[in-house]
Amino acid sequence: MSSQDNASLAEQADRHLWGHFSSLGRSVDGMPIIERGDGCYVWDNHGKKFLDGLAGLYTTQVGYGRTELAEAAGAQAATLGFFPIWTYAHPKAVELAARLAALAPGDLNRVFFTSGGSEAVESAWKLARQYFKLMGEPLRTKVISRNLSYHGTSMGALSITGLAAVKGPFEPLVPGAIKVPHTDMYRIPEHAKDESYFAEEIEQAILREGPETIAAVFLEPVQNAGGCFVPPDGYFTRVREICDTHGVLLVSDEVICAYGRIGAMFGSERLGYQPDIITSAKGLTSGYAPLGAMLVSDKLAEPFNGTDEQFLHGYTFAGHPVSCAVALANLDIFEKEDLCGNVMANEAAFRSSLDDLADLPIVGDVRGMGYFYGIELVKDRETKESFSYEESQRLIRGFLSLRLAELGLICRADSRGEPVIQLSPPLIAGPEEFEIMNRILRQTLTEAMAEMEKPS
Ligand SMILES: Cc1ncc(COP(=O)(O)O)c(C=O)c1O
Repeated sequence: MSSQDNASLAEQADRHLWGHFSSLGRSVDGMPIIERGDGCYVWDNHGKKFLDGLAGLYTTQVGYGRTELAEAAGAQAATLGFFPIWTYAHPKAVELAARLAALAPGDLNRVFFTSGGSEAVESAWKLARQYFKLMGEPLRTKVISRNLSYHGTSMGALSITGLAAVKGPFEPLVPGAIKVPHTDMYRIPEHAKDESYFAEEIEQAILREGPETIAAVFLEPVQNAGGCFVPPDGYFTRVREICDTHGVLLVSDEVICAYGRIGAMFGSERLGYQPDIITSAKGLTSGYAPLGAMLVSDKLAEPFNGTDEQFLHGYTFAGHPVSCAVALANLDIFEKEDLCGNVMANEAAFRSSLDDLADLPIVGDVRGMGYFYGIELVKDRETKESFSYEESQRLIRGFLSLRLAELGLICRADSRGEPVIQLSPPLIAGPEEFEIMNRILRQTLTEAMAEMEKPS
């Protein structure tokens, strides 16, 4: 593109595009406009190359420029460009549902498609409510989830979300969304006697609210917001027990953690627990077309099976034929290139490329699994002293986000909890990409320490 075209694109973006979770009208010369991609790399409209250390938004598992996916989309659009799955079916939705059921752990044999992750979470809460009404337990309407967690933006999913800052403007939200502690093993609260505290807090919440009122617990295998909180050993085994004791459903929100992100097709499989529902999206199509899927156990489908009861819920674009065709081609690549195997084989190398930064005093904690890692930044490593809110903003928004992009690394610098940098590269990444991430992070964090020494 000529520089004149670029200027006009930036101007139009500034005037007309409403970016998500973005400031309006402040982006000229600031907001990168990403034009194309290949493998783990993307290029902006000025031709600048970036390593995409975030896989879009935890999404492009197979990387960019995969012609197999483009061809699958084109062929399906030419054959049947659209048809809903409301009282009809089409071959690609059927084929994909059967394939996901075969991949999913245990008896998660029913697939309810959505257009994305928030809709999958919304659907799970609604299904849990309708299920319990049909089972003669109409009081079971509430849900439990963790502080700081992000589960989406529709009103139900936002209520399940535990981030006060993104909820405030929309309150009052859906009542009955209870919060429990997230599994921050770096900052275990003083009153916690040991690691069992985190799961026991879920049982305490159930008992406090009344078990007969709780429909489901929503948990990510590894919690994204707050910076890749990995659960302690035994956490999910105990949560499963607690749910079974109190007749509560366990929903594994795997919008990020499914499809290889933490080294297995499903995060629950990697961590060894059996959910009643898995919510997923993102990596299902590697982002080449929008699609989400709620995977449901036979037990939950039973009261709807062969009866007049319908799950009274749906979305026009859910299970879109083009998206389903892309998902099938995406899963073919997973198999052909053994992407889960690639993540498992490289996980230790990825981790050590990040652990290598631990000599920098600003690095407090490195945590995560698979290709999903967070680095928590601290003011004082000895005491784990945090940056103040203003310092965090200065560090993250004022410096790190801009500097990382300048140096050619897309990753997430986030201050919704403690300041963290998150890395979640395409699952095809390997040692070359780890080396680039390490180098750019080392330079940026070194500069950030000097920056934070300056008077504000
Ligand atoms: C765990 C989790 N649940 C739900 C969502 C919402 O998904 P979407 O943005 O596709 O609506 C996200 C998005 O990042 C997520 O990380």
